[in-house]
Amino acid sequence: MSAKLIDGNALAASIRNDVGRRVRRLADLGLTTGLAVVLVGDDPASAVYVRNKVKDCHEVGIVSTLDRLPAQTTEAALLARIAQLNADPAVHGILVQLPLPRHIDSHRVIEAISPAKDADGFHVSNVGMLVTGQALFRPCTPYGVMKMLEHAGAHLDGAEAVVIGRSNIVGKPQALMLLAEGATVTICHSRTRDLAAHTRRADIIVAAVGRIGLVTADMVKPGAIVIDVGMNRGADGKLCGDVDFAAVREVASAITPVPGGVGPMTRAMLLVNTIEAAERAAG
Ligand code: GUN
Repeated sequence: MSAKLIDGNALAASIRNDVGRRVRRLADLGLTTGLAVVLVGDDPASAVYVRNKVKDCHEVGIVSTLDRLPAQTTEAALLARIAQLNADPAVHGILVQLPLPRHIDSHRVIEAISPAKDADGFHVSNVGMLVTGQALFRPCTPYGVMKMLEHAGAHLDGAEAVVIGRSNIVGKPQALMLLAEGATVTICHSRTRDLAAHTRRADIIVAAVGRIGLVTADMVKPGAIVIDVGMNRGADGKLCGDVDFAAVREVASAITPVPGGVGPMTRAMLLVNTIEAAERAAG
C-alpha cells in the first residue's frame, strides 16, 4: 500500500484564496487588514521565513510592514516598538520572528504583544484560552496540521494520537488541539524511554523534533496518518523532515511530504489568524 499524499501546497493555496476573499470583503467596507512583522538580527533562515510571510500577505491583499532591526537592538527598544504597533489601529496582527538574539528575553517580548493582535498565538493569555477551549489565536503550525488532518478525513474522536516534540510552538499546542477533538494524546520527547512502543499504537503521528530519520517504517502502525513537521537539511543539502518518507509511505494510509507539506500550511494559517483578527476588530 502506498499512502495518500496530503498536499500542503494545494491546501494552502485554497486557504489563501479564501483569506483573499475575506480581505476584499473588508476592503469593500473601507477597511484594510494589516500584519506587522518584526525581525531582529540577521539569522539567514529567519530572513527567508519573514520574506515569505510578507510575500504571502501581499498576495492576499493584507498590508504588511517589516521592521528589520539590528542584532544589537535592546530589549527596551523592541518593547517600545511593540507598544507602538499595539496602539496602531491599522495593525491587526503582530509577529516577532523567533529566535531572538540571546540578550533579549523572548518571553517578555511575547507577553508585550497585545493578546488581541498576537497572530502567532504565543502569548500566555492565548495559550490559556487554547487550554480552556476558547482559543482566540491558534499557533500556526499545529493549526495547519489540524487543517491537514481534517482534509485527509482523519477521525480524531477516540483516536490514539502521538505527538513527538514538546515545544511551545508546535508540540504542546498540537497536543491540546488534538485533545480538543477527542483524541487520546501522548506527548513523546527526547527523554521518552521507548518511542516506538508509543508510536506503534498511534492512529495519528505528528513528528516535530527536527531529527532526520526519527520515524522509521517499523515504528508506524499500518494505516496510520503521519504528519511530518520536521524541517532539516540532509547531507546532500536537500530539505527533509523527521520521517523516513520513502519507507513510511508504504505503511501509512496518509502522509505529508517535506517540502510541500506542513511548511506552506504554517504560512497560510498566519494569514487566517490575521484576517480573523481584522474581522474581530471590524466587529
Ligand atoms: N520561528 C519558527 N517558527 C516560528 C513561528 O511560527 N512564529 C515565529 N514568530 N517565529 C518562529
